[in-house]
Amino acid sequence: MTILVTGGAGFIGSNFVLDWVEQVGEPVVNLDALTYAGNRANLAALAGDARHTFVHGDICDRALVDRLLAEHRPRAIVHFAAESHVDRSISGPAEFMRTNVTGTFTLLEGARAHWGGLQGAEREAFRFHHVSTDEVYGSLAPDAPAFTEDHPYEPNSPYSASKAASDHLVRAWHHTYGLPVVTTNCSNNYGPFHFPEKLIPLMIVNALAGKPLPIYGDGQNVRDWLYVRDHCSGIRAVLAGGRLGETYNIGGWNEKTNLEIVHTVCDLLDELKPDAAGSYRRLITYVKDRPGHDRRYAIDARKVERELGWRPAETFDTGIRKTVRWYLDHTDWVQQVQSGAYRDWVSQQYGAERRA
Ligand code: NAD
Ligand code: TYD
Repeated sequence: MTILVTGGAGFIGSNFVLDWVEQVGEPVVNLDALTYAGNRANLAALAGDARHTFVHGDICDRALVDRLLAEHRPRAIVHFAAESHVDRSISGPAEFMRTNVTGTFTLLEGARAHWGGLQGAEREAFRFHHVSTDEVYGSLAPDAPAFTEDHPYEPNSPYSASKAASDHLVRAWHHTYGLPVVTTNCSNNYGPFHFPEKLIPLMIVNALAGKPLPIYGDGQNVRDWLYVRDHCSGIRAVLAGGRLGETYNIGGWNEKTNLEIVHTVCDLLDELKPDAAGSYRRLITYVKDRPGHDRRYAIDARKVERELGWRPAETFDTGIRKTVRWYLDHTDWVQQVQSGAYRDWVSQQYGAERRA
């Protein structure tokens, strides 16, 4: 029994691979192109572990996908690989279309050919699990009910549009070809190995470096935050028991404004690593808003609880404390990811022209 994971050197994928080996113990083949967001150091704990096979390659490479499926005969594909950062999708959408749309299409075609050749129990058991986002549903008014699985798709950014397209492809491959798929749409994750271009890790690493904490617009945009290992357990639950062709929303029941998040990070750092210059809140800086910035996301995760008994294990208090501690304990990891490419992105994104 083996599974094929795509994008398993990224933030959520690497947490998933580590969690899978710990909790399930089955071998994992991990296909990742190692873009700026992929990092083999995330998987250092599995060095020398025969249950983890890393393959450096692109999900758009059909011949490679076919070869891996034929060689390893995985019982499932868990598809994380994507371009995932909204701001990058605004400044350069092409790569999002290639990986998120064409890459998902390529995997689906590889999976369809492979599954078509399976028989009996192996064919019955096969699953294609597509990992997606709540951003496909668009933006909620302040008092609107949280997104259910029936909410219309209204993606607003190039990132969310590319993920919405991939969700539609997965749906169609089930409807037309009978491919055994499940899709999960999850809210914002946070936790270890989160690349410091995203809100929470960026605030932690900037604060520790005494740099400004850039808040877009008025800081009142709302996200529903989920600790990454809870997302991993949600994926395991849906992979094991989700109904074929269904989508399941996964979320943390934890809506916070960006300003609340940044205040919490500053307060934890004030407690765990006080700075002689005063509270880290002094570094908060309002900058120009993201174009098309979605105001609010919130997930109604009752379906996955009702059908599969999944709920998050962490509260925001426990999860964010673990996360801040992890960054304090892994300054070597932070230094390693802050490569030249990362520095170029930060100066392009937060350069003088972006100050509010
Ligand atoms: P990430 O950007 O940290 O990691 C993406 C990984 O995919 C990297 O390791 C990268 O090298 C790899 N990759 C990119 N293009 C590839 C290609 N063409 N071929 C093979 N590998 C490629 O992303 P993440 O935050 O871990 O997100 C993983 C998945 O979860 C994505 O599909 C994303 O849409 C979804 N998601 C993320 C969040 C979140 O809060 N981060 C929330 C919900 C859903
Ligand atoms: P992000 O982590 O990029 O996730 P997403 O856009 O996928 O939700 O951003 C989370 C929120 O934080 C979003 O409302 C944008 C905001 N944000 C800032 O205010 N400043 C920043 O420097 C970043 C990266 C994000």
